[in-house]
Amino acid sequence: TSHATTGYEARQRFAENVARKAGALALDYFLRRETLVIETKKDPQDVVSIADRAVETLIREQIAEAYPKDGVLGEEYGMAESSSGFTWVIDPIDGTSPFVNGMPTWCVSIALLHQGEPVVGVIAAPCQDELYSAAHGLGARLNGTPLRIDGSRTIRNAVTGVGANHHVPPRRVADFVEALLTQGGTFIRNGSGALMLAYVAAGRLVGYYEPYMHAWDCLAGYCLVREAGGWFLPFPVEGERLTKGAPVLAAGPGAIEDLRTLAQL
Ligand code: IPD
Ligand code: CA
Ligand code: CA
Ligand code: CA
Repeated sequence: TSHATTGYEARQRFAENVARKAGALALDYFLRRETLVIETKKDPQDVVSIADRAVETLIREQIAEAYPKDGVLGEEYGMAESSSGFTWVIDPIDGTSPFVNGMPTWCVSIALLHQGEPVVGVIAAPCQDELYSAAHGLGARLNGTPLRIDGSRTIRNAVTGVGANHHVPPRRVADFVEALLTQGGTFIRNGSGALMLAYVAAGRLVGYYEPYMHAWDCLAGYCLVREAGGWFLPFPVEGERLTKGAPVLAAGPGAIEDLRTLAQL
């Protein structure tokens, strides 16, 4: 598809602007995080604060104003159905744990679904002053510079990102990490799966594995990785399945086979 016919550029520009605004609001909260009341969800490691809710509210207001018929699925406020065929899938703050603990590795993640495909992915990392943006057929960029994954990087000469939560048995991630280390690989976890997926698109990580993620954690990353020339395990987004989780595996060309074997996917 040519630039003129994809039709996603207007929404991509919009998403970039919203991610910048949302990132600025989140950064305000981050800089005065001592004043935040930290609540926990079912899992005591799963934290949330007014910052997460305020940022999601801002994003939802902007979408409702610009594209009132588009659907929205967000981590904090759930699903609003679409009547336009477009659905935004948003995580106001991915990496709430680093956020509340004073570490800079968190981000705002905004994805757009159209006809069952993630077609736009934007991630803003305000502490690093980075904006990642991709649209179907138009490539991926970091602060305007095109991203292209280097196929010579492997699990043995580069770093793999790993994520974990308490939705699935610890064994799954433990087995993966053991196998990765055994094969001469190594891993990083920075507390934001969305941001680590953007790092795969940027070639900083050669891959990313997490046994279970939600759509809002990974769909912007999906678009970024694919558009940068990487591989991403298909993620179920049709109907009911959009609100359920699934395993996530992303890889550069030189690591796909190894990572699929290690993750058994
Ligand atoms: C979490 C982060 C984390 C991942 C978890 C996610 P949140 O999202 O992405 O890196 O391991 O599975 O739930 O709660 O910080 O938005
Ligand atoms: Ca959360
Ligand atoms: Ca998340
Ligand atoms: Ca979140």
